[in-house]
Amino acid sequence: MSAPPVTVLTATPEEEAAIIAAVRAAPGRTIAGPEHVDGLYALLSDERVSGPIYDLPRPITRDRIAGWVAQSADLQQQGRCILAVNLDEAGEVAGYSRFSIWPERSSGELAGARRADLQNSGGGRQGVTQSIGWMFEVLGLRLIGLTAALDNVRSARAIEGAGFRSMGEVESVKPDGSSRRSLYWELTREEWERLHRL
Ligand SMILES: CC(C)(COP(=O)(O)OP(=O)(O)OC[C@H]1O[C@@H](n2cnc3c(N)ncnc32)[C@H](O)[C@@H]1OP(=O)(O)O)[C@@H](O)C(=O)NCCC(=O)NCCS
Repeated sequence: MSAPPVTVLTATPEEEAAIIAAVRAAPGRTIAGPEHVDGLYALLSDERVSGPIYDLPRPITRDRIAGWVAQSADLQQQGRCILAVNLDEAGEVAGYSRFSIWPERSSGELAGARRADLQNSGGGRQGVTQSIGWMFEVLGLRLIGLTAALDNVRSARAIEGAGFRSMGEVESVKPDGSSRRSLYWELTREEWERLHRL
């Protein structure tokens, strides 16, 4: 139940087609497949990892995670989603990123988490910045909107550290239909380029 940005952009047909092709290809990312379901289930069963994330299927069971992986793969073929895993040196799932994309709006959103033993290492901010750059430069998006729980200080710091503009609060709708207040930020590609290229 991820939500598109508050600001509405309209992509040209060519831009939309290029974004869909880039999302399907997702260069440089390890796409979650059936072989990662057990690892994702173990990762997300830890409340320190999944607790702050509103758009996960709940309660978290192995079957639900398998369905979420399969659904994300279907959406990727439509150019609307990339569910990627980060693997550690042992090949275990140590984190995930889920990119939601609205190609007709040239817009996207990002959610993700790191395994508890890897949190608070300074890697979160670096990971957010790297993923945001990839969304603008490789997927070709022009706008990214991000949310975080009101008390998620680490996310807020990482998001603002990447240059996002705070735009107050929004109501986020969870997959079960209930809602949660979230902090909300946006960043355009032009702003990103000004921050990181000049
Ligand atoms: C959010 C998450 C990816 C961040 O990764 P991380 O490696 O833990 O984060 P970092 O160590 O890079 O810390 C991020 C920022 O928060 C700051 N921070 C950490 N703990 C803090 C605290 N208690 N008070 C204030 N700031 C704090 C850090 O100093 C850092 O800011 P800086 O880059 O300006 O120095 C990770 O904590 C996580 O997976 N959390 C669970 C899932 C989650 O919340 N996902 C995001 C949903 S929007």
